[in-house]
Amino acid sequence: MNERLTRRERSAPRLFLLTAVLLLVPASASAAWREAGDVRTVTRQADGVVLLLTSGARVAVTFRDLETVRVRLAPSGRFERDFSYAVESKDRKTVAANVAETPDEIRLSSLNGTTVVIKRRPFLVAVKDAEGRTVVEDDLAHPVVFDTETGAVEMSKRRAEWETYYGLGEKAGPTFYLNSQRFVMWNTDTYGYPRGLDPIYQSIGFFVALRREQGRGLAYGLFLDNTSRTFFDMGKTDPSRLHIGAAGGELNYYVFTGGRERAPRAVLRDYTDLTGRAPLPPLWALGNQQSRWSYFPEARVREIARRFRETRIPADVIYLDIDYMDGFRVFTWDRSRFPDPARLISDLRAEGFRVVLIIDPGIKVDPNYHVYKEGQAGGHFVKTAAGAELHATVWPGVCAFPDFTDPKARDWFGSYYRQHLDEGVAGFWNDMNEPGVFLSEETPKPDLYHHPMKTFPLDARHAADGQPGTHARYHNVYGMQMARATFESNRRLRPGARPFVLTRAGYAGVQRYSAVWTGDNVASWDHLRLSVTMLLNLGVSGVPMVGADVGGFSGNPSPELYARWLQAAALSPFFRSHSEQVSKPHEPYSFGDEFTAVNRRTIEMRYRLLPYLYTVFHEHTKTGAPVMRPLWFEYPSDERTYMADDQYLVGRDLLVAPVVVEATTKRRVYFPRGDAWLDWWTGRRYEGGTDAEIEAPLDRLPLFARVGAVIPTQPVVQHTGEMLKTPLTLVAARGGAGTSSFYEDAGEGYEHLRGASRTTTAALEPGRLRLTRAGAYAVSRPLAAVEFLGVETAPGEVRADGRPVANPAFDAASRRLVVQLPAAAVGEITGVP
Ligand code: GLC
Repeated sequence: MNERLTRRERSAPRLFLLTAVLLLVPASASAAWREAGDVRTVTRQADGVVLLLTSGARVAVTFRDLETVRVRLAPSGRFERDFSYAVESKDRKTVAANVAETPDEIRLSSLNGTTVVIKRRPFLVAVKDAEGRTVVEDDLAHPVVFDTETGAVEMSKRRAEWETYYGLGEKAGPTFYLNSQRFVMWNTDTYGYPRGLDPIYQSIGFFVALRREQGRGLAYGLFLDNTSRTFFDMGKTDPSRLHIGAAGGELNYYVFTGGRERAPRAVLRDYTDLTGRAPLPPLWALGNQQSRWSYFPEARVREIARRFRETRIPADVIYLDIDYMDGFRVFTWDRSRFPDPARLISDLRAEGFRVVLIIDPGIKVDPNYHVYKEGQAGGHFVKTAAGAELHATVWPGVCAFPDFTDPKARDWFGSYYRQHLDEGVAGFWNDMNEPGVFLSEETPKPDLYHHPMKTFPLDARHAADGQPGTHARYHNVYGMQMARATFESNRRLRPGARPFVLTRAGYAGVQRYSAVWTGDNVASWDHLRLSVTMLLNLGVSGVPMVGADVGGFSGNPSPELYARWLQAAALSPFFRSHSEQVSKPHEPYSFGDEFTAVNRRTIEMRYRLLPYLYTVFHEHTKTGAPVMRPLWFEYPSDERTYMADDQYLVGRDLLVAPVVVEATTKRRVYFPRGDAWLDWWTGRRYEGGTDAEIEAPLDRLPLFARVGAVIPTQPVVQHTGEMLKTPLTLVAARGGAGTSSFYEDAGEGYEHLRGASRTTTAALEPGRLRLTRAGAYAVSRPLAAVEFLGVETAPGEVRADGRPVANPAFDAASRRLVVQLPAAAVGEITGVP
């Protein structure tokens, strides 16, 4: 940490310092708050109404879809061009609104009965679901206000006493649920952030509210689409309301009612219909990934790869952090460390490893550096208020920064990826893109985490896709637009490959372009526990491909902490060990032989479950459901799930209860009400709505399969390139009926969008499993066996398609019956006890 701070504190030009300090002062300028007032005029349009208020503000209330309401309020009275970085551009139908007016109210309803009641005096909005229940409503005592001096705008929503909140993107707690906290959105480089620090790297102003009413869980979602600094006071200042505001711009928000069923699933479906879903990742990106700041020179990288294969620990990806570059100049190599990158990469590829490179936004100001020269000539860099090229210090020294909000700059920057793609690089890691810059030695540092000079001056200029504005307005989208530049150029340059992009900073909708990791965490038991809730909240914020640095970025985990962290993360979507320069080795084989064996077993478990994990990612692309899910996502009517912060679901069918406490070998697990669960290792059954104490020796992750589910698995492979040659085994969690399906395709490319995929549906009922297949995927893998879990007694005759199966293997200790299948196309297995 110290080393890092001193590097960051290296001096920056004083002029920059002085200007920045001066620029910060007006932020707290005089306030002139004004109430939005009463409704003066109403203009009807197809999807809703436009209102003029007595304050001069203009409001549009419309339906985005049958169960999503949009409210847009322009304090100035003039709407800007309707443009959003969050909203996915695609054709959308206008949703018809039925409008009825009385002297006191204006009522809008959509075809399915979702209703907005707008009070005229003062202007207040209440949203009601199709059953007539209030979803969320403005607080009569606190109508919308705006500040005519600063442009700030605020609203308050009444909150039900027992409502809990989740999401808001990447939040470091302090608790899983967001209640009684105030959060800010302002992307910040927060090395070694402690629990509760806010804001950190991402800005996603979307949350899910959940409450139990008449025995049922009712959810709704609210998304404030405003790129300025925003805040979300979730009942901290006043428990009776949510207080939400932005430092400037329009008050532009969406309420997702979740339809008639008010299910979290419906809320996420509609939110991701608006902001987009993550595309299917390339299969290799679901493998085990190994990173460090930094592996160099080339010989060291080769050694890492060799050690993984020697120790038989599966892995797919090796990362190169900043030291591969020539003086931290992006799109260059340090040729003394990496004389022949293409050769290295192809040799690694032959061993089943892909290489991901870090690419930062700062371009070293160096007249002899082609990227700088070309960026300058093309006018692609962010400018100061005075129109000069903005300079600030990051790893390479003084840098200029591409204006990623400018489509021309995105294209230009993106074009440099060609060289790396030609060298065989498989993916890119965009860091420092909050943007984060270093403080100089002379800067007074009252708060190192949130020092205002750790980013660009607020009045720096951005092109913003045709809506130019200040850094104050576009700071929060800078990182996402960098990830977009990376994603879109990769799509363009390699049309047949699925890009893999990892970003530290982001804004709502980032999932369309990139995976997200939770930045510079710490090697502590508390951070391990925190990683679970952070990833869960990111997932319900629409971002499925998420992970935390396994073992902790800063500091040194004990072998036990590393092993437990690896287990906790083994079924998380993005699975990568990463650690800082000054830390001890963090590879899964560097903690002594006993732990090498433990860690191997953990990573093998992930590889065995990759067919399932891939299926869950596919589900996300169809429904927006997170991959790693909080229990409440599937069991909203079970209020015990609302606080469950150290367990998670992967998809619908696996329940994971990692050990996050030091020196323990058992833990309590809560089984959500409505389903029964089988211990993955022992086959023992646990009823929903109960707790149990579960044995968790050091080499075992407590894992449970939902009764009725059928989960695709495969034999252990050393990397995903070996997968397609191996046959599948289905694990059927017997003891109840259920239907599941699993998805297969080539794991790369886009042929699956043209029909090259296969879905197998498995219907489990007492004594019987039926399989049906649909789709044209040609290379789908043979089905070798079905493993029935939870079998208490030895079977009589088990039959596959009516013919007796030879020697089904029954193991009473693990309550497993393994049935080897004679032919790949078996349709029915009967006679299972
Ligand atoms: C930042 C990143 C970290 C990386 C380091 C050096 O701190 O968050 O992951 O290793 O920079 O590039």
